[in-house]
Amino acid sequence: MENNYSSLEEKFQAKIDAEIKIEPKDWMPDKYRKTLIRQISQHAHSEIVGMLPEGNWVSRAPSLRRKVALLAKVQDEAGHGLYLYSAAETLGIDRDTMYEQLHSGKAKYSSIFNYPTTSWADIGAIGWLVDGAAIMNQVPLCRCSYGPYARAMVRVCKEESFHQRQGFEILLNLSKGTPEQQRMLQDAVNRWWWPSMMMFGPPDADSPNTALSMKWRIKRFTNDELRQKFVDVCYEQAKTLNVTLPDPDIKWNEDRGHYDYGEIDWTEFWQVVKGNGPCNKQRLDTRRKAWEDGAWVREAALAYAEKKQTRKIQQSKVA
Ligand code: 3HC
Repeated sequence: MENNYSSLEEKFQAKIDAEIKIEPKDWMPDKYRKTLIRQISQHAHSEIVGMLPEGNWVSRAPSLRRKVALLAKVQDEAGHGLYLYSAAETLGIDRDTMYEQLHSGKAKYSSIFNYPTTSWADIGAIGWLVDGAAIMNQVPLCRCSYGPYARAMVRVCKEESFHQRQGFEILLNLSKGTPEQQRMLQDAVNRWWWPSMMMFGPPDADSPNTALSMKWRIKRFTNDELRQKFVDVCYEQAKTLNVTLPDPDIKWNEDRGHYDYGEIDWTEFWQVVKGNGPCNKQRLDTRRKAWEDGAWVREAALAYAEKKQTRKIQQSKVA
């Protein structure tokens, strides 16, 4: 038995190394299945909860054009969540279980969405920094070894680039605006920069999942590698926005060919992940209420499906 399993694992790893996609019906180690269910379901939760901070500004957008763009973005995030829940379901977990894991607080979602959006500039900062970080992390996932996840990511990344561009444009406009608008811009970047840096996960040395995820080509880059790419890109873009990143230690390092950056407050990160962030309770309460308020729609849809099924059986008996 032991030999058989190890040869199955060897064949599995050989497929991964040969860049052959793993599909739902293929044999896979339980741990591969489990870590994908964990990551994909939490990714889906992040998309759905991620709608909440921005949804708060749809009715407050400063123009119809901004409102339409924000509505489209929030709607896209809902779609991303549904693609990802569907991808997770191919691994054998059902949707109700995933929802229950989110609503009970058992499942994680990206800590970034537990921060408040206190000004219109926050919507620009979310597009530029949060969606910018998401793109950095999601483009490599288009090459993830698990087929359904990789394919879901292709569509997500196309829409993500629009999200990032609309955010950057909001900030560019503010950067050319009144001194008050420029102050609003700088304040938003000050509040969103460090939580965005945390989106890539803990340092590689403290990441229990990265080594295996790299071996199985779920991840193509480590948390720190992607974070570094993010810093290098944002530092240059910040110059165009005429905004200062709130990290006095950012400095070009000729030897490394990258920007050095300051210490991230991992105590804050783990506090927010554990549920003690500024908006954790509000976010989960809103999700639970949406689930309860939507019960009648689920019941009606199930009753209609059962009625249709019963009619189909009756008609097949008559025919
Ligand atoms: N927020 C909350 N929890 C986090 C986190 C974050 N930013 N970063 C890491 N964690 C958790 C991990 O889930 C893990 O806990 P678990 O084992 O209980 O799941 C623990 O911290 C240790 O982290 P690891 O680095 O070992 O975990 P991973 O290998 O899973 O790496 C990750 C973390 C980089 C977020 C990876 O899961 C990933 O790439 N996920 C897919 C992308 C994703 O979920 N992005 C979230 C944002 S989605 C978004 O921004 C949508 C956009 O449209 C706005």
